[in-house]
Amino acid sequence: MSAATPQAGLAELIRLRGIIVCVGSGGVGKTTTAAALGLEAARRGRRVLVLTIDPARRLANALGLQSFGNEVRRIELPDAAEGGELHACMLDTQATFDDLVHRLAPDDETRRAIFGNRIYRVVSDNFAGSQEYMATERLYDVHCSGEYDLIVLDTPPVKNALDFIEAPGRLARFVDRQIVKWFLTPYDEKRVFGRVLVGTSGVVFRLLGMIFGREFLDELSGFFQAFRELMDGFHDRHAAVTRLFADPGTAFLVVTAPNEPSVDVASFFHDELRARNLPLAGFVLNQVHRCHDGELSAPELLRERAAALAVDLPAHTAPSLLARLDVAHKRLRSVVHEERPFVDRVNAMASAGYFVVDVPLLDRPIRDMRGLRDLSARLFPDPPAAAP
Ligand SMILES: Nc1ncnc2c1ncn2[C@@H]1O[C@H](COP(=O)(O)OP(=O)(O)OP(=O)(O)O)[C@@H](O)[C@H]1O
Ligand SMILES: [Mg+2]
Repeated sequence: MSAATPQAGLAELIRLRGIIVCVGSGGVGKTTTAAALGLEAARRGRRVLVLTIDPARRLANALGLQSFGNEVRRIELPDAAEGGELHACMLDTQATFDDLVHRLAPDDETRRAIFGNRIYRVVSDNFAGSQEYMATERLYDVHCSGEYDLIVLDTPPVKNALDFIEAPGRLARFVDRQIVKWFLTPYDEKRVFGRVLVGTSGVVFRLLGMIFGREFLDELSGFFQAFRELMDGFHDRHAAVTRLFADPGTAFLVVTAPNEPSVDVASFFHDELRARNLPLAGFVLNQVHRCHDGELSAPELLRERAAALAVDLPAHTAPSLLARLDVAHKRLRSVVHEERPFVDRVNAMASAGYFVVDVPLLDRPIRDMRGLRDLSARLFPDPPAAAP
């Protein structure tokens, strides 16, 4: 990133990119950062969609998101530059999966066969339960709609970066598994189990039939028959989402806090994104404690001023408050000291040309538009660059 300051690097992202994916471990501020980036990009004149995952309830309300359902809400921004629009949407994983299957099914008969099948519910619970996978599917759909200049994708917390990076291939990998492939192999006759009821596998299936009942096996057979029709669609989408991730119009932003578990996750993302040539742009080092470098003594520095202000108070009040202030300052210094190695680790990762924007821990949680504007002011302290 060639921008002069880290903040300018981030400003360039929201000005130029079409997709920004905020990744990182749990609780580091991915959702609030995604919302603040979206807010600022819209204020600067872009049509933005923030696609969030499980936002805290109050923040969701601030974004006009009361319920799930993939419904896109527009948030009025009185100070948006011309053309700027902020939209937000909360990921509904089950609806996303049903939509996908609905679209990929070639005809109504296949659709009815799949949606009416009990096995489908089990399989779809499994996939829809995977927020990272569904997030990438939804991202691809809204990208294809062409309705937005910028989509900011919030992501679920991951312990393992690969859960997210490899998410787009989940269905394709599922249908590629040997056992599933075997079920999905085309047959001349309609009944999948016609073939397997002879030979060794026939024994296995008769046994399964005894355990689960013939009806269950028929349902399983019906599911795989219908699902087979969707296989090419899954592969095509996998290839398309993978291309979209690697596109130079996309940027990955790693959000982290200055503590060991989240910097470990950030470091894993850094390594994996680089290894896969995915467009990592930089880091937001969030919730950083800040403190004056030198050791200060509150009683020494403030004694006279406190005494002057405490004229009407009992004699011990000022010294006892100063002593407490001194303890609080020392605690803050030690927290800053403990965070230092993690701040250094993030800066070392960034030495390969990525930016790090650090953001202090604000004095209250970010739950409304005011909080988002506070955060946005920290992320973007400079006014937008004039158009060339
Ligand atoms: N710079 C900050 N200052 C103060 N509070 C912050 C800051 N950044 C985030 N928070 C607060 O930290 C909490 C977690 O933030 P957020 O929900 O954005 O994290 P997340 O990474 O999306 O979490 P999850 O992984 O659970 O989805 C929220 O209460 C948010 O208001
Ligand atoms: Mg979140």
